[in-house]
Amino acid sequence: MDSMPLHLREILRDVSEEVKDQFYGCGSPIPSLLEGKTALDLGSGTGRDCFILSKLVGAMGKVIGIDMTDEQLEVANRNLPYHMQKFGMTPASEVGSCC
Ligand SMILES: C[S@@+](CC[C@H](N)C(=O)[O-])C[C@H]1O[C@@H](n2cnc3c(N)ncnc32)[C@H](O)[C@@H]1O
Repeated sequence: MDSMPLHLREILRDVSEEVKDQFYGCGSPIPSLLEGKTALDLGSGTGRDCFILSKLVGAMGKVIGIDMTDEQLEVANRNLPYHMQKFGMTPASEVGSCC
């Protein structure tokens, strides 16, 4: 976490402890200027970077996390309501979904 830029560390403070505890720490090469963009996290695990990205893309952006491990997805989905409330996200079902 110490190597993470300050603005990301500030967002990380609002990520739930359960999600942070299960972060594998593969590095988070999160680019700048994401407002309004769609971000795709392949191998998103419990979703730590997805939740950070959701703050960065803002209300007009979109974040897609993909993972093949049910246990990881279960933690990510269980923590979704907490982060939606924390970061002011809109459910995908309300903005249109492809699946
Ligand atoms: C080392 S973990 C990193 C997870 C997360 N990015 C983190 O840093 O906490 C790699 C993740 O990639 C997922 N993964 C690996 N190969 C995959 C594939 N072909 N399709 C979807 N997910 C995959 C695994 O299930 C695992 O959760």
